[in-house]
Amino acid sequence: MHMRMKRSLCCAGIILPALLLMQSCAAQKINVSKQFDNAGVQAGYMLSVIDSLRAAGAGAELVSPRTLDKGKLKLVKGQDWTSGFFPGELWFLYEFTKDKKWLPPAKKYTAALTPVQFFGGTHDLGFMMYCSFGNAYRLTGDTGYRNVIIQSAKTLAGRFNPVAGVIKSWDFASDSKWKYPVIIDNMMNLELLFEATKLTGDSSFYKIAVSHANNTIKNHYRPNNSSYHVVDYDPETGAVRQRITAQGYSDSSAWARGQAWGLYGFTMCYRETKNIVYLQQAEKIAAYIISRLPKDKIPYWDYDAPLIPNEPMDASAAAIAASALYELHTYSNDKHYRAVANGILEKLCASYLSPQKQNGGFILLHSTGHKPAKSEIDVPLIYADYYFLEALLRSKQMK
Ligand code: GLY
Repeated sequence: MHMRMKRSLCCAGIILPALLLMQSCAAQKINVSKQFDNAGVQAGYMLSVIDSLRAAGAGAELVSPRTLDKGKLKLVKGQDWTSGFFPGELWFLYEFTKDKKWLPPAKKYTAALTPVQFFGGTHDLGFMMYCSFGNAYRLTGDTGYRNVIIQSAKTLAGRFNPVAGVIKSWDFASDSKWKYPVIIDNMMNLELLFEATKLTGDSSFYKIAVSHANNTIKNHYRPNNSSYHVVDYDPETGAVRQRITAQGYSDSSAWARGQAWGLYGFTMCYRETKNIVYLQQAEKIAAYIISRLPKDKIPYWDYDAPLIPNEPMDASAAAIAASALYELHTYSNDKHYRAVANGILEKLCASYLSPQKQNGGFILLHSTGHKPAKSEIDVPLIYADYYFLEALLRSKQMK
């Protein structure tokens, strides 16, 4: 309703000033400083919870928090796809507050992932190493971080198949269901490759990223601009074998987080290449997501989940989409993305925050990790917190 009103104002030609006024009013509802104060309390508490888990015997190989399991903070190994988000959160706290107290934990939790730069068993290296080491290098300029980013990109590039023109996502088999699975989430890992080309001048990383993105547009997207979750390729011929889901409700449904990964991924690809095709793709995905968001702007875990409104929400999908929409707003002529992102953040701030010093120190409640596997349903997830903080930072940069 809110958005429709804005569009008609524009059409009537009335009006950039009115639009800007409305947008700044919406933006004022989010108090970014207050949210970072809260995030600082939660992160400090999370650090103390991790210390107490260690004192109680948690293994040194468990380096990063992921979620709550039966109310208890669950730590994961560096090779888990979520391992980079907590270091990233600590870097965001340092970035926003400029308080040096965040540097030691940010460095410590980043350093714990150093061996992961050689781990070629997943496509998720972009998430793991760019959210941690990428932010570390951006904020400190320390060349030690730079070298790890480059090695991580080399390892990720090793998963590229030039015949299919895409990076393989998963090595694990699902009852031999797939041969060469590529998931929409993989768009997020391309940022690491673009960065490696900028750092080294070696264009091979860039070319792999572009090939992957182009094939994803071709093979992952439906005529209505929603995305399949998994496209399974024949690694010998490059032909698509099947289009299916792993984490969504059905093969033909729109898994909410997957739509958000695609939006973020193509917006980032436009930033890195300035290829208008990626901007147009991001705009099409944004239109799809916006058309399917519930009134309060927080998606259920799958836009086609059969029991909506009695289905779990996914705050992580909301946070990722908000962060992406802020960036897309800066590139697009369609100037309503920022208002939608503001609406998402307002709702997250109003209804999704954990009480302080509870829930293991996670910031946001009510995300869904893998509903079909009955795993991580209506729980906090560390990546929801990471993209929430990134979205808050972006909302402030836009003011
Ligand atoms: N990349 C895995 C997920 O979004 O759950």
